[in-house]
Amino acid sequence: MAKDPVRVLVTGAAGQIGYALVPMIARGVMLGPDQPVILHMLDIPPAAESLNGVKMELVDAAFPLLKGVVATTDVVEACTGVNIAVMVGGFPRKEGMERKDVMSKNVSIYKSQASALEQHAAANCKVLVVANPANTNALILKEFAPSIPEKNISCLTRLDHNRALGQISERLSVQVSEIKNVIIWGNHSSTQYPDVTHATVKTPAGEKPVRELVSDDAWLNGEFIPTVQQRGAAIIKARKLSSALSAASAACDHIRDWVLGTPEGTFVSMGVYSDGSYNVPAGLIYSFPVTCAGGEWKIVQGLSIDEFSRKKLDLTAEELSEEKNLAYSCLS
Ligand code: NAD
Ligand code: LMR
Repeated sequence: MAKDPVRVLVTGAAGQIGYALVPMIARGVMLGPDQPVILHMLDIPPAAESLNGVKMELVDAAFPLLKGVVATTDVVEACTGVNIAVMVGGFPRKEGMERKDVMSKNVSIYKSQASALEQHAAANCKVLVVANPANTNALILKEFAPSIPEKNISCLTRLDHNRALGQISERLSVQVSEIKNVIIWGNHSSTQYPDVTHATVKTPAGEKPVRELVSDDAWLNGEFIPTVQQRGAAIIKARKLSSALSAASAACDHIRDWVLGTPEGTFVSMGVYSDGSYNVPAGLIYSFPVTCAGGEWKIVQGLSIDEFSRKKLDLTAEELSEEKNLAYSCLS
């Protein structure tokens, strides 16, 4: 029997991530090849004509799974009945900026859209914040939508996770599909900590730790970390625009794993509400290693954290606490 369609909201849908993301969703990349979808696309009035153009292209693409399109500049219409909300709307940084430099413009959007989601989305709607500063926008959304359970609000660090996989894959000349359990800890910013301590590679001789195969701690503790931390800036330098196709693809990976589950023995990185695990201050939206099953994420517990890692986990938590204060000062 055919499944009922799932309503997926994409805010900022006329922008460059939106343009890459909506066809992926309509093709089943996010929710699977047998899951019909209805797309809700929100943008602001100056982008209305362009948004309508995206809608026209979705019609022209004749996606079999796409059962309807709502393209609107009305936040209430956009949020009504949605089961999944991918919050991309906002302003991207330009060359030379840090992601928190777009804070004042973007956090106020998340404060105002929080109540529309709270009041009009379907019960148990899952929210993924992509717009930067992603962790802090998600935190503001959570604080201004108190009736949305904190387990339903997340931010995107899967792009950083995938970037770490990509770097290890190039270094070892192995397929990304053979590598698992890299971790992004903390903020989607240049203080994030890409950690390979628990990562492994499938080889003909069995599963081997990444650290054993790379056998160059100077690279893993040195060049690898800033390469992943600074990859967003490197893309902006090269494209004169921030990442879009990789961000859209990572957003699909994030929601797919959240809804459909992570493979046995595999963890992924998600920005989620901290419950104090790994001594990360409770209440921050912090990227942790998680597994997902039955539509719920769970922070992987009991991983060893050495002194080198501890300092990096703490540094990125401190930045998130500062960002939280800065966000509130922008909203006051
Ligand atoms: P873009 O400028 O191409 O598109 C953003 C869209 O949002 C525009 O169409 C704009 O009109 C719209 N918008 C602005 N205010 C809005 C509002 N109040 N409601 C609805 N829509 C609104 O930018 P982009 O390249 O698509 O990037 C979007 C955001 O995602 C940026 O903040 C960027 O920094 C961030 N980003 C995050 C990650 C991540 O991994 N977390 C990766 C890439 C980009
Ligand atoms: C990215 O990581 O590519 C995005 O957050 C965009 C940016 O500003 O770096």
